[in-house]
Amino acid sequence: MATDFTEETAADAVVESFATTPDPRLRELLTSLVRHLHAFVRDTEPTIAEWERAIDFLTATGQKCDSERQEFILLSDVLGISMLVETINNRTTVPGRGGLPGGSRGMESPRGSARSSSRASAATESTVLGPFHMVVSPRRALGDTIDLVGTGPQCVLEGRVLSAGGAPLPGAELDVWQANDQGFYDVQQPGVQPAGNGRGLFTAGRDGAYWFRTIVPTYYPIPTDGPVGTLLEATKRHAYRPAHIHFIVTAPGHRPLTTHIFVAGSPYIESDAVFAVKKSLITEFTAVDDPALAARYGLTGPFRLANFDIVLQPES
Ligand code: BEZ
Ligand code: FE
Repeated sequence: MATDFTEETAADAVVESFATTPDPRLRELLTSLVRHLHAFVRDTEPTIAEWERAIDFLTATGQKCDSERQEFILLSDVLGISMLVETINNRTTVPGRGGLPGGSRGMESPRGSARSSSRASAATESTVLGPFHMVVSPRRALGDTIDLVGTGPQCVLEGRVLSAGGAPLPGAELDVWQANDQGFYDVQQPGVQPAGNGRGLFTAGRDGAYWFRTIVPTYYPIPTDGPVGTLLEATKRHAYRPAHIHFIVTAPGHRPLTTHIFVAGSPYIESDAVFAVKKSLITEFTAVDDPALAARYGLTGPFRLANFDIVLQPES
């Protein structure tokens, strides 16, 4: 005889319905999902109108998606899920700044002598990819600028790519992208910014050293013209991300790293709309007013200098 559906037996009944799932991982995921969703519903006791509102919200989220816009990922971002998945999948042995004490001065850097030691370091922490990564960033030589426009405070970013044991990784690839000084990526402003502005694909040189010129990015809002924006508005949350520069760094025999460096002191550094800030990724962009040093970087006038070593985990 069929068992009555009750509040108490509902979760068990649905879990049982998946018992024949051949893939054990799929069965595990569905079982846990059903148990958590049912617990949420028993806990919050939504009205029918609230349930319909939730269905409408998810429907609108799907309808907002196309080949360029992924509103579900944005929803995952503002709920902290993207960062949680990212963090679980990129556990570093010792959380902490990948950089070496006092920073490093790569051989290829105009600053000259390599000062960093080869002591072991914790792997650099990861953070979210975000929606503005282009599969192919323009290839650039070390020292090139990724700023094709010439507005905004000029800056130099330099560092080394190292293995977790401290060995330099010459030939490591660094894919870099950032918003401009108005908080827009090139792809958000076609016809205003040239394609490839704020982007570059670099190869680390001897000693794993890299450096390039750019402008200091600014904070910006995530897209708010969809259901995620409606959610933020309804909850009186702001939509802003602190100023940052994105990196994907790869080297043979090492786990690829997707991360950002965050500009120390940027507004919203304590309240990133997508929860992506890790303290170890916050970097000083130090003001430099030294014409001789500027000239060595191919610059004139004051600039900001940031040093960020990137430490990759060997593939296990
Ligand atoms: C970004 O940094 O590009 C980004 C990340 C998550 C959501 C929106 C934007
Ligand atoms: Fe970004």
